[in-house]
Amino acid sequence: MPPVRPSVPRLVLLATGTLLLTGCTGAPGADGDGRTLVLSLNQTESHPSYIALTAFGDRLADRTDGRWDVEVYANETLGAQQEVVQLVGDGAVDMAVASGTQLENLNADFRTLNLPTVFDDIEHQLDVINDDAIVGELFTSLEESTTLTVLGGLTQGARNVYTAEGPVERPEDLNGKKIRVQESDIHIDMIEAMGGSATPMAYGEVYTALQSGVLDGAENNEISYLSQKHNEVAEHMALTEHLVGLDYVVMNTDVLEGMSPEDRAVFEEEWVTTSEQHAELWTTETIAAIEAAEESGTVFTAVDEAAFDAALAPVVDKYLETDDARKLYDDVREAAQQ
Ligand code: GCU
Repeated sequence: MPPVRPSVPRLVLLATGTLLLTGCTGAPGADGDGRTLVLSLNQTESHPSYIALTAFGDRLADRTDGRWDVEVYANETLGAQQEVVQLVGDGAVDMAVASGTQLENLNADFRTLNLPTVFDDIEHQLDVINDDAIVGELFTSLEESTTLTVLGGLTQGARNVYTAEGPVERPEDLNGKKIRVQESDIHIDMIEAMGGSATPMAYGEVYTALQSGVLDGAENNEISYLSQKHNEVAEHMALTEHLVGLDYVVMNTDVLEGMSPEDRAVFEEEWVTTSEQHAELWTTETIAAIEAAEESGTVFTAVDEAAFDAALAPVVDKYLETDDARKLYDDVREAAQQ
């Protein structure tokens, strides 16, 4: 069974959600009292992002005497990421977790961090996204055009390809297979280069598409694979580790700027704790997800890494054509040597 989703049609939910939020979003209360911030997430309640962000709200409420809190709406209740990012910019939703692929569609400069080979591992990724000298300008780049502030990043871990039929060991094993990708030019090119036929689709639609045979496979980390129950409909996971993915927590800029300096300082401190807790949870939950997937019958297969690396190299080059993209890539790679 797919993860539990609200049974009301999304449009009604969106309208309800928006209505529900209208009274409490936009600029914070004129009296500066704060309120409960609405955060949209497309993961289940067992996912590290839900756990870490809910705890963020609890600590925030504690430290601001209840003036500010965060309520996490899980399971795409407020909409899929592509729509929700617009809602955050408009102020109808306060905050959201959005994959780097969504931000790439708002500002192409985000593309570099969505490329295969850019990050060696999670540790390297976290070093980079917490280094203002490397990402500071990028992270504030959306504020004027879209009223979105990037609070920071949360890792998606290494992503692997999984399929209903397998095993997949080399790029040619993916020939003719329809593989779901996020709505991103890079991810489309990436899967095509890896041998598959790329099918862009929102996250919440993947289970049913795999079950009905519209898709032959998808790619994601082990935690998402298990929490979305894709293990029920795609038993073969090829350890391609083709990239280390990155989520961002975005927030409506006016809401953030409307906080009192004291509350904003608390908010930012608690955000740092949140990202640290998320990283710790990520490690333990990945191990648990792999074990649970194996128990449920998932077959993990090692791949011909050199063949996949060679297939992906032209995709990386293609997206490093501008000087800015090349510089960001080089800065990130330099951080890996330290
Ligand atoms: C990961 C990521 C999500 C993203 C999803 C996807 O689970 O954390 O933000 O939406 O991949 O493949 O769409």
